[in-house]
Amino acid sequence: MNRPALEGLKLNTPAYVQHHRLVNWVAEVAALTEARDVVWCDGSQDEYDRLCAQLVAAGTMKKLNPELRPNSFLAVSDPSDVARVEDRTFICSAQREDAGPTNNWMAPAEMRALLQTSEQALFKGAMKGRTMYVVPFSMGPLGSHISHIGVELTDSPYVVISMRTMTRMGRGALDVLGEDGDFVPCVHTVGAPLAEGQQDVAWPCNKTKYIVHYPETREIWSYGSGYGGNALLGKKCFALRIASNMGRQAAAVDGTGWLAEHMLILGVTSPAGKKYHVAAAFPSACGKTNFSMLVPPAGYAGWKVTTIGDDIAWIKPGADGKLYAINPEAGYFGVAPGTNDLTNPNCMASLQRDTVFTNVALTDDGDVWWEGMTDTPPAHLIDWQGKDWTPAIAKETGAKAAHPNARFTVAATANPVLDAEWDNPAGVPIDAFIFGGRRSTTVPLATEARTWAEGVYMAATMGSETTAAMAGGNGAVRRDPFAMLPFIGYNMADYFQHWLNLGEQLGKKTPTLPRIYCVNWFRKGADGKFVWPGYGENMRVLEWIIGRLEGSASGADNVFGFSPRYEDLRWDGLAFSRAQFDSVIGIDKAAWQQELALHTDLFKTLEYHLPAALPATQQQITQRLSAAA
Ligand code: GTP
Ligand code: SPV
Ligand code: MN
Repeated sequence: MNRPALEGLKLNTPAYVQHHRLVNWVAEVAALTEARDVVWCDGSQDEYDRLCAQLVAAGTMKKLNPELRPNSFLAVSDPSDVARVEDRTFICSAQREDAGPTNNWMAPAEMRALLQTSEQALFKGAMKGRTMYVVPFSMGPLGSHISHIGVELTDSPYVVISMRTMTRMGRGALDVLGEDGDFVPCVHTVGAPLAEGQQDVAWPCNKTKYIVHYPETREIWSYGSGYGGNALLGKKCFALRIASNMGRQAAAVDGTGWLAEHMLILGVTSPAGKKYHVAAAFPSACGKTNFSMLVPPAGYAGWKVTTIGDDIAWIKPGADGKLYAINPEAGYFGVAPGTNDLTNPNCMASLQRDTVFTNVALTDDGDVWWEGMTDTPPAHLIDWQGKDWTPAIAKETGAKAAHPNARFTVAATANPVLDAEWDNPAGVPIDAFIFGGRRSTTVPLATEARTWAEGVYMAATMGSETTAAMAGGNGAVRRDPFAMLPFIGYNMADYFQHWLNLGEQLGKKTPTLPRIYCVNWFRKGADGKFVWPGYGENMRVLEWIIGRLEGSASGADNVFGFSPRYEDLRWDGLAFSRAQFDSVIGIDKAAWQQELALHTDLFKTLEYHLPAALPATQQQITQRLSAAA
């Protein structure tokens, strides 16, 4: 390999790094990207503080008022770099069918030419004038048999400080690697090289973006964005797209494999002191963080919900046939807008200090604000784009103070209801799975699948209205199977089969598989408002689910599962009429005929390798629907 930049470039490798493969790879990428220098990150508080000060000096972040928001910062991004870019995200498997029809694909050699090897390759010289940071991290508790190590090379110090909060980052991860351990190599550049003497901008990025995964060699290459899941490569790129491949490939070895899911994990303890664990998949910006920190409403004395994870779950079968889940992350990168003391007080408490906010608004006294934080907005703000903002301006122009995908980055340990087992390397046993989309019509508040296959059907056919978490999200309904449409790292139909196989294999070991539920907090009334109060009130549905597991809760069969009737939920402390309930639980025949047609469209798209169990389940639903009044 040609290494012009290595002349005179010191790798600065600390003496404690003894992993030759790692050092060679760092040297190669430094040479390719022509980084100005290399810094190995140790994950210390000192290093974090130093980088934050550097980001403030560079204008990327502002320090917030230390009396109101101690040790916290506001970063604002380039307006073109505010969310995940799904149309620029690629799964470069050797065979196109292995990426499947729901992923963008390019042949690995072609992509490598584009990014690494051709004359004009994007990564060539991409870090000129910048420092390349070496960021070792563990997804999952250090040393857990469920965990995996990654190393991200990045030219963004904002990414470094975010990775320290979001993962177990630094020396500990290198210690696990030792001299020859396996790691997932993750290369990230903002794609904004600096010429000699060129002044940097506050948020460097590039209009051209590539978020690229090579499943066979388990590599990630990300170009052009500094934001969220595009750039914090441990999160969606590794913990979902690469890890879903790892989990499926493991099945060839042990017969079951494991799952990497877009799921929160919560503990729920009943007044009788019995504790259950629930994993729930909702698409981006559809309520995982909120559900994982739920505060039970008045009337639910003695119930307690605790957080294990708010976004991603790695789930492995144990010898007992139960599924054990860990949260591979160590922090929350959560949606700010809509979060407030009434709907999510635990989240608000988590954000009191030691938090980095991105793309929210700045108050005149140096604190933060976003839409939905308070009923009455402050009289004056600096909005996320640095402009003056007042309620009058907002009324006139519709300008948002915070970007709808504005987020906070905070350590899990700041969460007052963090589960005592959240860091347990063995994971927690899952009793139920929940799948929930954002649907203003059609899908009932809560439905239990009668069988594992029926549950897989519900999850596979889930639809949801797109949100600001993806660039271009505009509220249109799309199929989002398992809330994994943007995150599955292989063929979606094979993924359905993986879930079906897992259920079948576990069924041989245990008589009680986790039950599967489908929920929808988002049905709207004729006035366009949400009918279901949501948030803490979702406890009523969770209680029903626990009641089902314990055999005490009733309900009624419907065309595609088993749902609670009005009298099957507890209404203490909430005025919610039977008519309101009917409008969130009802199954409209015409709407469901249309819905089933959309399932058919999905199955056509996924025809290659589609498990026969899915169209078979659809046929049963269609028959029951035709028979229904
Ligand atoms: P990602 O981090 O993008 O994966 O999102 P998430 O699934 O963790 O979503 P989050 O909990 O951050 O919620 C996203 C938005 O939905 C916020 O504006 C919330 O206020 C809103 N939301 C969450 N739960 C509910 C609910 O039960 N009802 C209603 N109406 N809105 C909710
Ligand atoms: C999501 O979009 O589902 C997120 C935010 O959790 S990001 O990390 O940007 O993917
Ligand atoms: Mn997410």
